[in-house]
Amino acid sequence: MKTLLVIDSSARSHRSTTRALTSRFADAWKSRFGESSVIHRDLGANPPRPVDDAWIAAAFAKDVKGTPAALAESETFIDEILSADVIVIGAPMYNFGMPASLKAYLDQIVRVGRTFDFGESHENPYLPLIPSKPVVAITSKGSGDYEPGGPMESLNFLEPHLATVLGFIGLGDISYAKVAREEYKDEEWKRMVAEAEVTVDQLATKLAAD
Ligand SMILES: Cc1cc2nc3c(=O)[nH]c(=O)nc-3n(C[C@H](O)[C@H](O)[C@H](O)COP(=O)(O)O)c2cc1C
Repeated sequence: MKTLLVIDSSARSHRSTTRALTSRFADAWKSRFGESSVIHRDLGANPPRPVDDAWIAAAFAKDVKGTPAALAESETFIDEILSADVIVIGAPMYNFGMPASLKAYLDQIVRVGRTFDFGESHENPYLPLIPSKPVVAITSKGSGDYEPGGPMESLNFLEPHLATVLGFIGLGDISYAKVAREEYKDEEWKRMVAEAEVTVDQLATKLAAD
């Protein structure tokens, strides 16, 4: 059995484009490996705590025995990532970047000595500690033209930010299924949804077989 970790960050429980596509991926996975093959982390319904003074003190403390309470949520999230073979992330664009719940999640999982370490050289000052595994980022935006070369490219802080942080801890193997123009629901949006569904189906089949 291969384990899939599905991370949703849309604040919408219904009518969500990213949730429709992450569910589609999860359903394909379950039909191949069974119900227990999918871990669902719903950040939209249960946003992680923002890191605070106690979290930072615990994360950078030396020679600590056991897991300090402040890092309990972080440990759960990191263990889920480590136990997964494949990770799917639903990430809507909120105000040109990712939802606050997904940013809080990333803040919880980037931890010195646990998911990254300091290297020796100026050229390579950080070392990722998570073994590489495939990540599928499913994104949705209200308007369009954020793609490279498009008039809104410089305003897109969603995929670049997500990819930078994931790559920093070792999760640099990222495939995308992207939808835009969700607020218009026009023919172009319908075409992008249909294309994203095909991409999801193809990736689910490929990553289940690899
Ligand atoms: C709080 C909020 C902020 C948003 N900001 C942007 C934005 O900056 N640019 C954009 O193109 N769409 C924006 N949108 C539209 C969403 O990206 C779009 O509706 C997307 O489909 C949401 O994902 P979901 O369908 O999975 O909920 C925003 C939506 C919300 C709710």
